[in-house]
Amino acid sequence: MALSEKETLAPPRHIAIIMDGNGRWAKQRGLPRTAGHAAGAEAFRRIANHCRALGVKYLTVYAFSTENWKRSQDEISGIMRLLRRYLEEALRDMEKNRVCFRFFGDLSRLSPELQKLCRDAESRSEEYDVQVNFCLNYGGRDEIVQAARRFALDVQAGKHRPEELTEAMLSTYLYSRDVPDPELIIRPSGEMRTSNFLLWQSAYSEYVFMNVLWPDFAPQHLDEAIAQYHRRNRRFGGA
Ligand code: IPE
Ligand code: IPE
Ligand code: MG
Repeated sequence: MALSEKETLAPPRHIAIIMDGNGRWAKQRGLPRTAGHAAGAEAFRRIANHCRALGVKYLTVYAFSTENWKRSQDEISGIMRLLRRYLEEALRDMEKNRVCFRFFGDLSRLSPELQKLCRDAESRSEEYDVQVNFCLNYGGRDEIVQAARRFALDVQAGKHRPEELTEAMLSTYLYSRDVPDPELIIRPSGEMRTSNFLLWQSAYSEYVFMNVLWPDFAPQHLDEAIAQYHRRNRRFGGA
């Protein structure tokens, strides 16, 4: 089928992905859940490269939620080990991959080694082709609570008055402070819920839910999601 003109348009500037389905992928193969997370990390590498090739500027990925601590200690340590390995490699290859990093989430609950890797990655301030916003111990509600707390502290310190607070000002207290809202949010794995992802930023995002497990997610799935996005009619409340 020939692509319509709309589908050949530029990709969204900011794509966000809920990287879901690793556990089911492993189960289907009789493998431990951690093997699913390892395959999920490979899928992430492929998709980050594809975003760079397409010219997507921001890629936000949900890697570990504030609710994921409910999982077994075994699974959590497996995920943390994979994250450490990934970040070590990413720090080494930043130049080659042209990807820079930001972290959204409360990192204080992560191990000191992992926190240091996150800080090191963030402090490499070169402007690369793609900015990956890694959501780690991230929850959309938690993000808004942290923002409200920090605004309250600024009020207490006399920097702001409560009535000065606007949507634009509240945004500056979020983890995403200087990142535009995602135009497109993709959730693979067949689940149709947000699971506490980008609650504030998604007010007018287009959602694409796909029936593929994250470790099987390939560049053509991203192309398909972008094509769906281009077919949407975004009205932002207008008539
Ligand atoms: C997503 O895959 C990865 C994390 C939440 C860390 P899941 O582990 O949730 O995979 P399913 O949903 O159980 O298949
Ligand atoms: C969302 O997936 C979190 C991540 C992908 C990191 P979950 O697997 O944790 O969400 P639920 O439990 O299906 O809502
Ligand atoms: Mg899941």
